[in-house]
Amino acid sequence: MLAVRVPDRDGQIGDVVLGFDRLADYESSDNPYFGATVGRVCNRIAGAAFELDGKHYALSANEGANHLHGGEQGFDAAWWSAERGADGVHFRYTSRAGEQGYPGTLEVLVSVRLPEDGVLQLDITATTDAPTLFAPTHHGYWNLAGHDAGSVAGHHLQLAASRYTPTDAALVPDGSFATVEGTALDFRSGMRVGQGLERLAEEGYDGYDHNLMLDGSGLRKVATLRDPGSGRVMHVETTEPAVQVYTANGLDVRGKGGATYGPHTGICLETQHPPDAIHHPRFPSVVLRPGERFSTTTRFVFVTDRD
Ligand code: BGC
Repeated sequence: MLAVRVPDRDGQIGDVVLGFDRLADYESSDNPYFGATVGRVCNRIAGAAFELDGKHYALSANEGANHLHGGEQGFDAAWWSAERGADGVHFRYTSRAGEQGYPGTLEVLVSVRLPEDGVLQLDITATTDAPTLFAPTHHGYWNLAGHDAGSVAGHHLQLAASRYTPTDAALVPDGSFATVEGTALDFRSGMRVGQGLERLAEEGYDGYDHNLMLDGSGLRKVATLRDPGSGRVMHVETTEPAVQVYTANGLDVRGKGGATYGPHTGICLETQHPPDAIHHPRFPSVVLRPGERFSTTTRFVFVTDRD
């Protein structure tokens, strides 16, 4: 997704996602998944390996010994076919058995639509011809003040998330759930992102890169991101059980229009299944079997604080 142009409270249009001007920059290894559909499995799989039905599978290890965002040549690096629909674009991709180490040939459809005014809807469906894993996400970097406006510390974030999944230093979950109560992850009644960043800095973290478990189930509103300066507000609705909150902590690239994107200049709200779910039976399953149809929906709803 290259650009998302939405009005501020005075009707001024701004592009609220980070990205590049040139295809070559998207293809470069410096691209931190700007606006990508990530798959087959987003975030980390410990040891870049898993067992399914008694069989061992070795995956592409592209972050130390672990597998990140589908491997070296994940869905973000694939060539999709595109077809125009009535209110959007349908992207199709056939991921062959063995790709990045995953079993099963997967047929994937990503529909990016504008079904109503101010609504950006992503629907992903998939089927497989053999048991496999599938857990995609959308990796957009949002900055509601504008892609080139600098830090998102002034944004306010509200999240319907009461629990998170603690990790080791490599950001691999230990399999437990913990309450957000009393932590920098407690966005339940809303918090300025900068306040949380300051708190994390005191604890030695360079920003947010955390998986939170979303309350409720089914398609529901789970997040509201608000920029007090422009008055732009984005609600996130999803069928997913979790979200990775990531504040682009190590970011250092030149983007659209020559803008410099440093740390914390965008915030990702990656609706997802929890990282490394295949190794943690208590986490929602990421297994997809023949005869099943995978389906997930995430909606970004744009309004202003004048609406
Ligand atoms: C991960 C980060 C990673 C970023 C870009 C996020 O989803 O959680 O650890 O650096 O994506 O790859």
